[in-house]
Amino acid sequence: MKNQFLLKSDSLVFQLFGYMSTVLILILVLQAIAEHALIRVMLGVPQEIKNELYQLVDEANSFIDKNDISGLEEWEESQPYYIFVLNNLNKPLTSRQMHPHFEFKLKFLREIDEILDNKVNKPLIGMGLRNGNKLIVQLPSQKHPAHRYLLFFSISKVIIAVLTLLIVSYILAKNLQNPLNRLREASRRLACGDFSVNVVSELKSKTREFNDLASDFDHMADQISQLSGRQRQLIRDVSHELRTPLARQNIAIHLLRAQVDEKGEQIVDRLEAQVDEMNKMVGEILEFSRLENARYEANFKWVDLGGVISMQIEQARRQLVGAQVIDFNLERSPCFVVTDERLFVRCIDNLLSNAMKYAGTNASISVRTLDITRQGKAFTRVQVSDNGPGVPQEKIEEIFTPFTRLDSSRAKARSGYGLGLSIAKESVLLLGGTIIAENLITGGLSIEIDLPQSEISVL
Ligand SMILES: Nc1ncnc2c1ncn2[C@@H]1O[C@H](COP(=O)(O)OP(=O)(O)O)[C@@H](O)[C@H]1O
Ligand SMILES: [Mg+2]
Repeated sequence: MKNQFLLKSDSLVFQLFGYMSTVLILILVLQAIAEHALIRVMLGVPQEIKNELYQLVDEANSFIDKNDISGLEEWEESQPYYIFVLNNLNKPLTSRQMHPHFEFKLKFLREIDEILDNKVNKPLIGMGLRNGNKLIVQLPSQKHPAHRYLLFFSISKVIIAVLTLLIVSYILAKNLQNPLNRLREASRRLACGDFSVNVVSELKSKTREFNDLASDFDHMADQISQLSGRQRQLIRDVSHELRTPLARQNIAIHLLRAQVDEKGEQIVDRLEAQVDEMNKMVGEILEFSRLENARYEANFKWVDLGGVISMQIEQARRQLVGAQVIDFNLERSPCFVVTDERLFVRCIDNLLSNAMKYAGTNASISVRTLDITRQGKAFTRVQVSDNGPGVPQEKIEEIFTPFTRLDSSRAKARSGYGLGLSIAKESVLLLGGTIIAENLITGGLSIEIDLPQSEISVL
């Protein structure tokens, strides 16, 4: 199993091996190139020493010209370098005794412009003099350029290794990051309820392990999608099934009412109210389910939003409690938009009833419409805001999730199942618009619905 794993060229082990080998080879090659270049640049005799040596050549020549051999001998001995002047037979011109090691090294004589070894030693440098004589100078080891060269070479080795590692690590990280980013993006889309994610087709990684992970991810998305589908189906079916017994109960209550006395009628009233409540709930669940499953056929036509909103506000005003007020501010009238009137009414109705329910008895509710342009498209914005307590900032997105009711103790007293805003959201999406909630700085919640003015053609 392990061997098989190692042999596959698309396995992570193989790819890492490839990267590491590349790094190693790259570092070695670059270091060899650097070494070569440094030798050429740094291992020649330094210019200041060359100048000194040329000076010595001139001085030696002047002794030869004068044929002053004893002067030459004295001069040789007084030099800071170990030097000899040889004749064309490679014998010293003077009677000075030559060190045997020096004599031996004469076989490895170097030109002044030659590149030296990178090992610190004492090379002999030969320079031509007049009459076929030669000046031989032994370069002291402390003046050998290899000293500087070794330092530079060590630094360049480190720099090359670090740079190569950095570059290859960057490439490796990029290659590893790409599939990870794709997966992350896909999991975000999945979290937003997009079950159509298909990472395998998008990823096409060269690494088998990533492809395996992608296909597992797709499988998981598929399973979640099926699970969520079944759950939605269950909610729909159960709600649907509840309708018949509820209808029967309604009839039974009507029949009962005819047979009870005044005291019994109160109980029947309570019973009827309960059944009505349940009917409403089942109706909302079914409506949400229809919208969520795109089973609702929107009926697009030109609608005067101003007129529709005014009508809803009129109705809402009849149910105001305490010192609640609603004011309406229309930017232009009539305000025609291509939309589905029923869905829009559903949204505005819910926003108004929410404001009345949750903003308190002193609520001042404000409805505004205005025209805006977003990314070159014309929208009509309908804003419903109140001066109530608003929604805790970290829960602001949550209120659009089905069955979400914040502060349940407070909310229980009021009717509603936490489906109103979910229905509003699904409706607005179907109308091609957007809905957002935000807490106002002045306190209170504001819900903004942006509807495209005429993007959807009238059917
Ligand atoms: N105007 C508002 N002010 C404060 N909280 C609100 C407001 N509108 C909605 N909410 C919160 O959002 C939740 C969800 O609203 P909604 O989906 O309409 O459900 P419901 O009206 O059935 O409670 C509400 O239970 C409430 O906690
Ligand atoms: Mg509501």
